[in-house]
Amino acid sequence: ISLKAYNTFGIDVIAKKFCAFNNTTELQEAISTGNSQPLIIGGGSNILFTKNYDGTVLQNRVKGIQVIAQDDDTVTIKAGGGENWHRFVLHCIDNGWGGLENLSLIPGCVGASPMQNIGAYGVEIKDVFHSLTAFHIQEQTNYTFNAADCRFGYRESIFKRKYKDQFVITSVCYKLQKKPVVHIEYGAIRQELEKMGVTTPGIRDVSNAVIHIRQSKLPDPAVIGNAGSFFKNPSIPAEQYQQLLLQHENMVGYANADGTVKIAAGWLIEACGWKGFKRGDAGVHDKQALVLVNHGQATGEEIYRLSGEIIASVQQKFGITLEREVNIL
Ligand code: FAD
Ligand code: EPU
Repeated sequence: ISLKAYNTFGIDVIAKKFCAFNNTTELQEAISTGNSQPLIIGGGSNILFTKNYDGTVLQNRVKGIQVIAQDDDTVTIKAGGGENWHRFVLHCIDNGWGGLENLSLIPGCVGASPMQNIGAYGVEIKDVFHSLTAFHIQEQTNYTFNAADCRFGYRESIFKRKYKDQFVITSVCYKLQKKPVVHIEYGAIRQELEKMGVTTPGIRDVSNAVIHIRQSKLPDPAVIGNAGSFFKNPSIPAEQYQQLLLQHENMVGYANADGTVKIAAGWLIEACGWKGFKRGDAGVHDKQALVLVNHGQATGEEIYRLSGEIIASVQQKFGITLEREVNIL
């Protein structure tokens, strides 16, 4: 079966077998009938296929959203791993529960949200994460993970490292606020709210501002294939940043709590001249250089090769090594 419709890059590769599961029983059946390591997917919005998949692809379609605990100030809400992320965020906003609004319009499913601790506009899921349930593929049993167990970091979790390919995340619980405090530390959000004429923003306003910003610079996968930021923003020592600023005075960097500086990879890539680059159908988005795109018929290999050339040129010009954020298969 072709996986073209199951990855937002729109790469046309073939999987030996494809199967969807709606609950743990179906998952268990699917695992016991397949004999090799399965690939679990949600929306396929953070994957680049560089070759055919010689095994079973299992799509998480576990649905359901329910409140599992609440008090005067907080609500703990559980969502099935196959729920669409943005729809889940809107559901929380509709109920007046705050905490996820800055993460509006991120593609994909709830079950993948802890994988790389998704983040945007000053918030990461780890800030409001409560726990998750995951099914261990070999042992065929369920485990519960709290936030500490998940070892969240910037675009990182234990599921991308030590426990890679071992667990299927079937549901995730978030602890949200009934009396929300909005997060508008991010400059672009404040500017957008001002444009909207909003002076005392609520969570709905923040969500709308984030949606506007995202629509203005990120390509819609339904129109042009992509998987969001292709690389992570690299962190470098403060001294190295000061040295680089002597030659490149506009280089964008943000101080981390540990004293290092996080550099905008999009700025580095643009400075190397890649913004809007196109070779065949593989390219670099013209409004956001951190996003690699498939204009139609590009292969995963072509996009991967382009990403390697970008890494080499940023390394050569700035002495900084970019790391891929997208999962390569
Ligand atoms: P998939 O791509 O299906 O899977 C991603 C990885 O997780 C794979 O390795 C897969 O095997 C694994 N996986 C998926 N589901 C499960 C599961 N249930 N159990 C175990 N493993 C699983 N990300 C951000 O953090 N911030 C952003 O602002 C952001 N913006 C984006 C904008 C665009 C236009 C696009 C296309 C992507 C963006 N992303 C962003 C990346 C992506 O949306 C997120 O990483 C999202 O969480 C991926 O969800 P998915 O269901 O599509 O995961
Ligand atoms: N920039 C450039 N040129 C470019 C792109 C960006 O100079 O072509 C500069 C911008 O001017 C800005 C800075 O880089 O000063 C940061 O750009 P932006 O605000 O667009 O965010 P980003 O750092 O490129 C990160 C995340 C996004 C997330 C946004 C908003 C990573 C790898 N990416 O992008 O996440 O939505 O911040 O918080 O951390 C994703 O993970 O897929 C993703 C889209």
